[in-house]
Amino acid sequence: MNITPVNEASPLITLDDAIFESVVNDLVKQGFSIKPNRLPVAVVDALLTCQRSMKDSEYQKAGIGRATQFQQKDDIRSDEISWITGSTVEGQIWLSWCDALKTYINRSLFMGLFSFENHFACYDVGAFYKRHLDAFKEQRVLKNQTNRVLSLVAYLNEDWKEGDGGELVLYQNNEDTKGLKIEPTRGTFVVFLSEEFPHEVLTSNRERHSVAGWFRVNGSKNAQIAPPI
Ligand code: OGA
Ligand code: MN
Repeated sequence: MNITPVNEASPLITLDDAIFESVVNDLVKQGFSIKPNRLPVAVVDALLTCQRSMKDSEYQKAGIGRATQFQQKDDIRSDEISWITGSTVEGQIWLSWCDALKTYINRSLFMGLFSFENHFACYDVGAFYKRHLDAFKEQRVLKNQTNRVLSLVAYLNEDWKEGDGGELVLYQNNEDTKGLKIEPTRGTFVVFLSEEFPHEVLTSNRERHSVAGWFRVNGSKNAQIAPPI
């Protein structure tokens, strides 16, 4: 097993590359990766500390669309979000794990992941996020936008049970109506190509906490997966 410090000078956490390698293999094979309970405990703890220290006033109603097309649409999504900036040590632990994942994927797949943005999301009882794509390929290819290309979602909820609702449903393509259901249980994370996989959050019957993040490419050239074979 290969253990790499995040930062040689002052490591915030030590990382096990095996999980990153497994994510990379899944991405090559199928374009998504579902990892139940595989987020390192130190990272989960850091995220929980961050999330619990947040005040209600730090959350805002989520919207859809980029800058000038931004809209709040309660019939599409009803969660509340708070962008993560990494202003605390715990926030930095989470962001350094994300950065290590990005570096590993770039080295293995040459995806050219460049920047990362992410937020906490809180789904109150009754909240949902209807089926959507996180990014549209045409915008990147035709308009050369710095699109989101890889989505990452991580979950913070203890003991999620059948009947609690709030599952993430990941569809294989636009035609798929069945999808794969993922319970938002603490420590589970999911990675998928933002432009390829429609997904939704089913109505939650419990308060539901997650983190959603997106890696962007810097321009249109680098978003294809190109394993070094
Ligand atoms: C999103 C999203 C999924 C989740 O915020 O775009 O799809 O499970 N979130 O929270
Ligand atoms: Mn989404």
